Amino acid sequence: MTGFEVVERDGLARLGRFDTPHGPIDTPALLPVVHPDPARQPVSPKEMHERLDVRAVITSSYIVWRTAPLRAVAEAEGIHRLLGHDGPVMTDSGAFQQHAYGSVEVGPDEILAFQSAIRSDIATVLDLFTEPESSHEAAEAALEATLARARDARRARKGLLAVPVQGGSHDDLRFRSARAASELGDIAAVGGVVPLLEQYRFVELARILVATRPGLGAGSAVHLFGGGHPMTFAFAALFGVDLFDSSAYHKFARRGRLLLPEGSVAIDEVRDPICRCFLCAERPLSEVAGLSGPERERRIAYHNLVASVEEMGRVRRAIRDGTLWELAERRAAAHPALRAGLAEARRHPEVFLPTEPESRRAFRETGPESRERPAVVRFLRHLAAYAAGRPEPKRVPAVALRPEYLSHLPIRDLSGSSVYWEAVTPLGPVPLELSETYPAGPYLGIDEFVDPRSHLSPATLAKKVEAAVGGSADLDRDWTADWTRFQVRSLLEWRYGRVVARDLPPSLVGERSPRTGRLRAIRSDSEVVFHIGTDGVVRPTFRGAGLLRPHLPPGRERVVVSDDARPFVEAGRSLFARFVASADPALVPGASALLVDRSDELLAVGRLLLAPHEIPLLSRGVAARVVAHARGPELPSEPAGEEAP
Ligand code: GUN
Ligand code: ZN
Repeated sequence: MTGFEVVERDGLARLGRFDTPHGPIDTPALLPVVHPDPARQPVSPKEMHERLDVRAVITSSYIVWRTAPLRAVAEAEGIHRLLGHDGPVMTDSGAFQQHAYGSVEVGPDEILAFQSAIRSDIATVLDLFTEPESSHEAAEAALEATLARARDARRARKGLLAVPVQGGSHDDLRFRSARAASELGDIAAVGGVVPLLEQYRFVELARILVATRPGLGAGSAVHLFGGGHPMTFAFAALFGVDLFDSSAYHKFARRGRLLLPEGSVAIDEVRDPICRCFLCAERPLSEVAGLSGPERERRIAYHNLVASVEEMGRVRRAIRDGTLWELAERRAAAHPALRAGLAEARRHPEVFLPTEPESRRAFRETGPESRERPAVVRFLRHLAAYAAGRPEPKRVPAVALRPEYLSHLPIRDLSGSSVYWEAVTPLGPVPLELSETYPAGPYLGIDEFVDPRSHLSPATLAKKVEAAVGGSADLDRDWTADWTRFQVRSLLEWRYGRVVARDLPPSLVGERSPRTGRLRAIRSDSEVVFHIGTDGVVRPTFRGAGLLRPHLPPGRERVVVSDDARPFVEAGRSLFARFVASADPALVPGASALLVDRSDELLAVGRLLLAPHEIPLLSRGVAARVVAHARGPELPSEPAGEEAP
């Protein structure tokens, strides 16, 4: 609805963008809470913009409404003039004040009309704030009222609308509320969680986000009310939170506390020059500690905002790099409660798996719990299916899949039966032929993960092999070529299933890198038909996709391109979401897909940015980038992709 566009992503988290009448908002974004009275702003929106590059802010329409002088300016000249800010302004509705003070004197229709009258870019429905402790009955009644208000608001409001998600701690209500918020609103704003954030009740927060997430559509931007401590940004972003607001930078400053991504500290405890930001260059924190009154508070608040904006930048970079889980795990070290919250998130892989990418550039552990990330859960499930029915494998330490090792490992015994080998990895035993596959691959050959006693030279490996299979297999033979053939079929089986791998033509030949010995391509009649990435994943070239297509059941691995976009895709332009007619629901972000027309003619090979279930919900942006196409050579990298008509 918003016209939300996904530009890059890591799991549920996305770098996105949507337009407002005062310019675009690039997400994830921190919208600092700005008091509408300039006298009560420790940092003005002008300073936020000029010195911190903060474009979008949030303020309370209710405080403006009830404060006559502010209201007069806002009604006459608009909220932007009142704030002295010409970037996007989101307004909240007074629900939080209603919660804090028991009541507000304004009704839902009036405050919504007021937000439109003062030209708010994003107006918020006056919801009923529901406490986490609220009974199901009370939470449900409040939710019904909130939803009725949201429906009225949608009819009345032409501009962008934020619809709060309530429901207390009740999963069914959170889900229903999220679905309605995504349908009615441009922005689904998860509310009722301030007590959880303030009291570090991150396990409950995780449960709420787990219950909420499946109800949220990919087309809505997701806001978290009150998510303003930088320590929590990566955690919330994991669940796909796009917008954060908070007065935390100011609230903590009032108590003399510095916000840091590693937690918060009292400024009085700061003796050393811990920061070199532009503010500290003007006046170090240790000096700020010695100030008093409003100047001290102002400077701490300012510093807190700098720290928050910087952390949001790190979250954005982590999404781009595919390292958001790493960042969230490192941040969880800030507080045991946050660690517990992240552990709760890991207990619900089903929430993350539909958007879990096929692979990432890296898999870095921050600790043993990293081995429970969704990427590993999916890998181990896939592995169980892959290895089902195999005879007992032999174990080898995590040797690299290099010819000097493989040459010693017989894959058949003297009677012709297959001998299977498993590499011992920190994720558990992994069939040796797959041990370079994400996320097991990155462990391979890394010394600290291998038992030092099992450190192997090819010669000692040969001795171990002799002990394991000596007498029953030919140990004098060089097994490298057998391994290459076996591994080619295995990687194809891993990706496309046993039947497809078996049916592909026998002419496929694996090619190893002369430098590393890794399998890097599969050729047929000397032409490359699959590339094998450093993530161990096979990806077809245009020829390869042509080889695959007749062996795949209808629809499988396909994204069907609408007629309008056919000529563009054929010529190598990106496939935009609104030109996708259908997509195989088993595909995941990052996967290679066959881009076909309605008659199943192959147009191109694409890399998916979106999960299939997200595509119909996103009217803007790219669904798949073309990597190889009918009318041209293999593209060396991702094409710029102009928009089709
Ligand atoms: N600010 C903090 N929490 C909430 C909430 O639940 N609803 C609204 N509208 N604003 C909030
Ligand atoms: Zn600083």
